[in-house]
Amino acid sequence: MNAWVMTGAFALFFLLASTGLFFFVVTRGALVLRGLSPGSQSDKSHVYPIYSNMRLIKMVDFQPIISAILLFQYHRLVSKIVAGLEQTDLRNKKVLITSCAFGNVIPRVVKAAVGAGAERVLIADIIHNELIHAKSKLGEFSGKVDYIEDNATSMTQKEGSVAANVIFFLLHELPHHLKGQALAEAGRMLAPGGKLYLAEFHRPELWVLRALSWTYFKVFEPLGLALWDTHDPLACLQDMGGWKCERTTYFFGNFQIVTATKL
Ligand SMILES: C[S@@+](CC[C@H](N)C(=O)[O-])C[C@H]1O[C@@H](n2cnc3c(N)ncnc32)[C@H](O)[C@@H]1O
Repeated sequence: MNAWVMTGAFALFFLLASTGLFFFVVTRGALVLRGLSPGSQSDKSHVYPIYSNMRLIKMVDFQPIISAILLFQYHRLVSKIVAGLEQTDLRNKKVLITSCAFGNVIPRVVKAAVGAGAERVLIADIIHNELIHAKSKLGEFSGKVDYIEDNATSMTQKEGSVAANVIFFLLHELPHHLKGQALAEAGRMLAPGGKLYLAEFHRPELWVLRALSWTYFKVFEPLGLALWDTHDPLACLQDMGGWKCERTTYFFGNFQIVTATKL
């Protein structure tokens, strides 16, 4: 019996450790290596290989894995955005998704936008492979969606050209000086009355969760911790002015959806 328990515990430890190592290598580890060769810096340098290498994209993008990474709150977060879009009259209007994300967020957002009457949905990402991958999930909406290779911090879309903009877990991956630029761009592209839906991590209320979350960010995503204080997206938008914002938090405050209306 003891031998079985020991073997089970060892197998579980091995599984968790190798999963952690895999994610470290394809996220922060790769960025650390990239940073060692300064000549190779570009506006895509902060993007993890799991978002640029097609094999890795396909290997990681499974709903149960993605839901687990977001502590099984993924569905609730997407539902909040979808509900907002469904309640908006989007007839003859455009909806923008700024940066792709794994799981079913893109198909659900596109379905909600088209259902609310949107004329077109624009999906913008700095990585071409992400757009190809997103397209593979959207066969039934092929006539309604445009795929645009673009940088969230300096977008090519015109001022006031979209009625809604969805940014799903992008900010925590951007270098700090680009976080504010991405928010400013989101504001520039929205028409007055338009809504920005921003899903992100948030500083947890429970100290145990805060400690675990802090460790996660320190190891895997050090650029994300600033969302807890110096780069709190709600505070950034309020400081910027011209927004009416509301925030809903989830899972003891670990996640947030900021809904910001452009005044
Ligand atoms: C939204 S974030 C992370 C999403 C989240 N971890 C998930 O998949 O559920 C990942 C996406 O952002 C894109 N991205 C990163 N920086 C970008 C930028 N400056 N402009 C546009 N897209 C960007 C990446 O190419 C990738 O497709």
